[in-house]
Amino acid sequence: MKTGLALALAAAAAALVAPTAASLLPLSDPDAAAAAAAQDALNFHAAEAALLSTPHRRGDRSVHHRRYTDWRTGNAGQVTFASFCDWTGGDIARAASASDGCGAMCLARPGCEKFTWAFPGVCYMKDGSASAEPVTNIGALCGKVVPPGTNVRYAWATAAEGRASVAADCDWKGGDLRGVAAASAEECAAACLADEGAGCFKFTFANGACALKSADAAQVVSAKAGAVCGVVAHSSSISWADAAAKAKTLVAQLSLSEKISLASGSGMLVSPCVGSIYSKASIGFQGFCLQDSPTGVRFARNVSAFPAGINLAATFDKTLMYNQGLYMGREARGKGVHVLLSPMMNIARAPAAGRNWEGAGGDPQLHAVSAAQQVKGIQASGVIATAKHFVLNEQETRRHGSNSLAGARALHEVYLKPFRACVEAGVAAVMCGYNAVNGSLACANPAVMSLLKDELGFQGFVMTDWYASTDTVATANGGSDMAMPGNHVEGIGSDPLFGQNLEAAVKNGQVPLARVDDMATRILTSWIKVGQNDGTFPWTNFDSWTPSNSKPIGVQADHKVHIRAVGGASTILTKNADATLPITAAKYKTIAVIGDDARAPSNPNACSDHGCIDGVVAQGWGSGTSFFPYLVAPVDGITAAASKRSIKVVSSLSNSGSDGANAAKSADLAVVFVAANSGEEYITVNGNKGDRNDLNLWSNGDALIAAVAATGKPTAVVVHGPGAVNMSAWLDLPNIKAIVYALMPGQEAGNAVADVLFGDVNPSGRLPFVVARNRDEYAADVVYADAPVRYDEGILVDYRWFEARGRTPVYPFGHGLSYTRFAYAPRLAVSPVDPRTGAFRVEVAVTNEGDVDGHEVVQLYVLLPRETCEAVGCAKELRDFERVWVPRGATVTVAFDVPRRAYEVWSVQAGEWRAVSGTVEVLVGASAADIRASASVVV
Ligand SMILES: *[C@@H]1O[C@H](CO)[C@@H](O)[C@H](O)[C@H]1NC(C)=O
Ligand SMILES: *[C@@H]1O[C@H](CO)[C@@H](O)[C@H](O)[C@H]1NC(C)=O
Repeated sequence: MKTGLALALAAAAAALVAPTAASLLPLSDPDAAAAAAAQDALNFHAAEAALLSTPHRRGDRSVHHRRYTDWRTGNAGQVTFASFCDWTGGDIARAASASDGCGAMCLARPGCEKFTWAFPGVCYMKDGSASAEPVTNIGALCGKVVPPGTNVRYAWATAAEGRASVAADCDWKGGDLRGVAAASAEECAAACLADEGAGCFKFTFANGACALKSADAAQVVSAKAGAVCGVVAHSSSISWADAAAKAKTLVAQLSLSEKISLASGSGMLVSPCVGSIYSKASIGFQGFCLQDSPTGVRFARNVSAFPAGINLAATFDKTLMYNQGLYMGREARGKGVHVLLSPMMNIARAPAAGRNWEGAGGDPQLHAVSAAQQVKGIQASGVIATAKHFVLNEQETRRHGSNSLAGARALHEVYLKPFRACVEAGVAAVMCGYNAVNGSLACANPAVMSLLKDELGFQGFVMTDWYASTDTVATANGGSDMAMPGNHVEGIGSDPLFGQNLEAAVKNGQVPLARVDDMATRILTSWIKVGQNDGTFPWTNFDSWTPSNSKPIGVQADHKVHIRAVGGASTILTKNADATLPITAAKYKTIAVIGDDARAPSNPNACSDHGCIDGVVAQGWGSGTSFFPYLVAPVDGITAAASKRSIKVVSSLSNSGSDGANAAKSADLAVVFVAANSGEEYITVNGNKGDRNDLNLWSNGDALIAAVAATGKPTAVVVHGPGAVNMSAWLDLPNIKAIVYALMPGQEAGNAVADVLFGDVNPSGRLPFVVARNRDEYAADVVYADAPVRYDEGILVDYRWFEARGRTPVYPFGHGLSYTRFAYAPRLAVSPVDPRTGAFRVEVAVTNEGDVDGHEVVQLYVLLPRETCEAVGCAKELRDFERVWVPRGATVTVAFDVPRRAYEVWSVQAGEWRAVSGTVEVLVGASAADIRASASVVV
């Protein structure tokens, strides 16, 4: 999405507002104590009321739902607030309070079921006889006590379904509330849920002992076999069919214009989120706040800046993927974001493509797993996840309508695969992309939508990307269910893409009424499916455009622990000659930290959507960003780690080659930080309009490295950036001993890289893309010319192209080194799981033969029979992976259940999936080019 002029327009709108709060007071003569107690809230609500009183908003009750709530109680599943309503009658008590205290007073008073906190400072407690009739009353807050545990269950902080599994390598330390007796992990989880009101957020069940823990519990990795840990989460278990049936009964109560309003965004800047759907009180629909991004809640303060999707992919860790979804979902929920615009699933087929950093790299299976795990985690928080961008949206250049042409086989086996996984994971929303497919816009293309809704069976709703489509009839009939942000063209405009224009199109027969019923039904189905209809969802409490309207509510909990863990787990050691790393006091007395990328930005949020380069690159630019609450610079993370070991740090925090060389000369090891960057099309940085112009390091990084290496000192290079960079200028220099790809690790960047450089974390990050010597060796490139984007490499994306063409890359897909050595048993144990389904099980034993504990990423590839290959050649394809913890000297057996789907190909003739017959080579190893064990399976 795009908001280039948004901030300027927001400022202009705010200037027009006349404060009229006094005339909106619903009460007279509050006593002095109450008025004093409510002063803070008053200030907030005065600003709020002023905002709501602009002429074009006055009288529109549906916008009043914004930002009035205190989610801190609401989010615990106990009290929920609604600002556009007022309960009349049923009074049992009255007391002075600030807004936040009113719910708590009601909870504490026997018989109190509802309450009203009325501006400016009186709390009315009410029994069940209070009428639920909503009354517009700006400045009032009303809440309802919800029985503890309603529609709340726990989600496990582990892999797979986001629910079960024994996690041998996870344990929460600290944050202890109390120990309780429990016979099983299930009982322990139930005890935590029951204690949620007292702050229980996480739990550990280990060796028969159940420990309840607060949000302060930190995740530490320990080899505690048999430990189970979980996080309390809100969720709903209604089936799609039941949700759709409920939605249909609600839609039947709506008029045509009401149905259309569910599908029509409010327009930019008239609500606090980047996209909004107005509420519909008659059916209990509180509206939608739709907000970016895949790295956190964009434009909000007091949120976390998570690692990029490319880092999450580089962990090859299903648990971390699930947890990131869960934590981002919890932050979104805490901010009142109903629909989080994440995950981003476009394939990094062209290494220079601008948004690659938001996604999971060059392989469709890695994308599928990462996206599906995140969807499960986000939706376990009751937030709707958005799989985007559908489909074939793989570059930024000329993205509005650039025409993507892909064959049916690549379309199914590569580009639809992550969407298929998300649909199976229950994703409730999909965003269609800016591009055209086969000559017509994806968002107005019935053939494209049919892939999603008919072939994949998606039952949620499709929203347009922001201003992706301008034709009302074509967009509606093409299958888009929601127009975002709502207005036709960019800026504040009242001419909606849907709204009254769609109503006119229905009335004159251009769009069938059934299409509008389908839109409304799909939107409410998703809302019900994730449980947002239970009335516990917090009201939106931040403002994207006028930050001073936001409530300073922190939702980060202990997510920085996860962020640092992902940062470490995604830091890829691609070269480590002479055991140069890790840094130890035995090897080095002084180290030099060199480069602009090692330093902290003067203000990490100074540039709109991070559209500049200043210090360490920890996120790319565009809508995929989030504000940094803080940003740990590499030099600071390294200095902290070095001082614990009494290692001296000298630094040169610029890209001056002579200064860098001088620093290196006084040290025993030089660590040079360099970077590249990319982002979204609407911001141009250093001449790069989203997509990178080339794969070179930015800011003379090559010259800096060469100058440092010329000192003769052993040199380690750390690269921050969106993907592969051209390393040919320095790759073969003799003093380049170690190379690290750190990608874009988010707010804990400096700590995460230090963890790996000093060996506090044994590296296990793996390249989620291939790295070549020259740009023209890659399977595909950005099309900069005004020409179609042809997916001529077919299914041979990324690493597969190299294998099919017999080329050796610099670093293969899946490559990454460790400080220990893992040996694989040469024999794979293959056994049938279920002859009816065609699934088989593969087991492999992995032994840690080195001196330190560590994670190994075990990768399973298949090579299908030769007759299935593309014309250009055959290549293995990733089908599964596991990141396992193997203590030194230990052997761990990793089991993969390989489903029939793993050896199906898309038959272009038949238009369906067909299992191959013949011999499938099953290849297990440490990268696409490092296969350690194999078996031939006849299918
Ligand atoms: C686009 O056209 C190609 C060639 O006719 C076809 O194989 C492919 O399935 C079409 N894609 C879509 C989404 O219809
Ligand atoms: C919210 O962020 C601001 C700075 O942006 C900080 O001063 C404040 O302490 C934070 N509040 C919470 C509750 O996290």
